[in-house]
Parts: sequence; structure tokens; C-alpha cells
Amino acid sequence: MGDPTTTWTDDNLMSLQSHVLAGEREHPGATGDFSWILSAISLATKTIGNKVRRARIEDVIGELASNNTHGEQQQKLDVIANEIIKSCLGSRANIGVLVSEEDEEPTILRTRSDGGRYAVFFDPLDGSSNIDVSVGVGTIFGVLRLPDGGKGGTEALLSPEAVMVAAGYVLYGSSTVFVLTTGNGVDMFVLDHSIGSYVLTKRDIRIPTEGKIYSINEAYSARFQEHVQTYLQWAHDNDYSSRYIGSMVADVHRTLLKGGVFLYPATSDRPEGKLRMLYEALPMAMLIEQAGGRAVTDHGTRILDLKASTIHERTSVVLGSSGEVDLFEKHSDTSL
Ligand code: AHG
Ligand code: MN
Ligand code: MN
Repeated sequence: MGDPTTTWTDDNLMSLQSHVLAGEREHPGATGDFSWILSAISLATKTIGNKVRRARIEDVIGELASNNTHGEQQQKLDVIANEIIKSCLGSRANIGVLVSEEDEEPTILRTRSDGGRYAVFFDPLDGSSNIDVSVGVGTIFGVLRLPDGGKGGTEALLSPEAVMVAAGYVLYGSSTVFVLTTGNGVDMFVLDHSIGSYVLTKRDIRIPTEGKIYSINEAYSARFQEHVQTYLQWAHDNDYSSRYIGSMVADVHRTLLKGGVFLYPATSDRPEGKLRMLYEALPMAMLIEQAGGRAVTDHGTRILDLKASTIHERTSVVLGSSGEVDLFEKHSDTSL
């Protein structure tokens, strides 16, 4: 017989759902709101992962005639993933607003006074142009608690009082990996297909403080600002390796586990950068900081200090190991 007082060891099987419930039990005033939202995201990402794996069989690979709100080519799966997330989150009574990369306007579900306490923003399928070649793609999300009072809606989610309370991504790769922070470290779950559950595999992930890997689309070098080119030259002279998948989720996941720095700086044709602040940069910045890393713009402003003025605003991104982001700042003059 085991010791009856022993209730938890790292060997216990822990699902995402039980992990979130356990976290809520530690907060006396918790309403259960968060597990309600997370269960919808869990269901949505299992469904999207299934679609991604079956995409070629179901013939949903390829582009649509339409462009998304950024004028970018939409893939069939972008639209399918977007509908799946909205149908899962739409039924959760505590969500006021949904913001998706694929929708020009936010989806307003209910006002603040009708119980819409949270906004959820998401990139339903990140790296979707890589699906045709079976490269890892992902879903990125952030959860904002909206300020009390007011009507809610777009104004509330862009207000300085809105607080990001959770962020995560799911990588549909050689395994389906769910990486989550609720502001208390970063945990990793892997989907066990045989039981249909995300199972905790790594608690409190810490990003290595160093790692001589840079991840950037270097083909754009001539269009980078001079200080970014200076950094890259320094990295070339100092035995760095280059790794770039072209799916932010996959590139950030590698950076989180192996260390290094991921960069998507401004270019002359995209002076604001390419990545979107709300549903790409901010969730990844929260995860990386919670794992002990750093996330800044290409001019060294902390990403978590940025405030979007529109829902689809873009930003440059430099994130990863704290030592490597420091070296980026040191070897590029970010004041230029
Ligand atoms: P999305 O598929 O959601 O539009 O995002 C693609 C993003 C991101 O995943 C990746 O880091 C970046 O675009 C790659 O851009 P480049 O092809 O310009 O390198
Ligand atoms: Mn994306
Ligand atoms: Mn996308």
C-alpha cells in the first residue's frame, strides 16, 4: 500500500483539463472561467489537428480564390480552422470577443454586462502555406481579461486595462504539442491519440539562456535595416547555425526547447514587420518570458509593453534565449 498522504508525483498522469482545474483550485476566488475557455481551445485544436493530418485525403489542401484581411492568400485550411475555433469558443458564455487573423472584424459574442469577461485572439492556422509539403503548422492564441465596466467589444480589448491572462500554441508536427502559460511558468502537453487527451509531458519549461542558432528569413537581408544586417554579420563571424522553417509556431517551439533567437524584423517593403501583434507576437512573447527568455521589437522595446491600436496591427519580433536577445541588442545598434 502506498502512502495515503502522497497525492502527486511527477509520474502521475495529468491531462490538460485536470492541470487547468488543479490550477484553479489553488485560487480561492476562481470561477472556473478559465477551464471553460481552455476546454474549448483543446477541443478546437484536436479537431484542427485531425483536419491537418487528413488534409490530403480529404482534398482540402491548397489556396482559395479569396485573400484574408491582410491581402494574403488564404488556404482552404485557414478558413476551416477558423470556423472550427469560432464554433468551439462561440458557445462559451464568458467570452465577449473573438479576434481572428482570418476575419477583418472582431466577432462580438456578448457585452461585458452580459458576462463577456474575456477576449480570445487567435491565429487559427499559422504557417498554413507549409501544409502542402507536410511541414509543421500551428494554432496560436491569447486570452485577455477585459476591464470591468464598459460595453466590452473592440474598445475594451484594446484598452490599457485589458490584461493577458493566458497564451499558448499548438504545434501540429510529428506529434501534436500544446504549450501553455497562465502566467505561472510554461507547461507542455502532448496529444495522446489513443485516449484523445493532451497529457502533461514537461512542467515549467525553461528556455536555455544561450544557443548559437538564429532563425530568420535571410533571403530578405538586403531589405533589413542596417543594424539587423550588422547583427547577422556578427553572427556569421561567430559560428552561428541557421534554422528557419517558415512556420512561426515551429520556429518558436524549437527556440523554446533548444535555445537561440527567432527574428522577424522590419523590411523596407514591410516597415512595421510582418507578424501580427495580438495573435502572433504577444502570445509568443508571454510564453517566452514565462520560460525565462526575452521578446522585443527590432528596436529593443519589450513586446509585452506594446499596445495595439488596431486588432490586426503588425510588429517586428526578436525573441528567444535571454543571452541571445542581449547579444542581438549588443551587436546591432537598436537606436539606429
Ligand atoms: P500565417 O500562415 O498565419 O500567415 O503566418 C505565416 C508567418 C509565420 O508563421 C512565419 O514566421 C512567417 O509568416 C514566414 O514569413 P516569410 O515567408 O516571409 O519568411
Ligand atoms: Mn501566422
Ligand atoms: Mn494564419
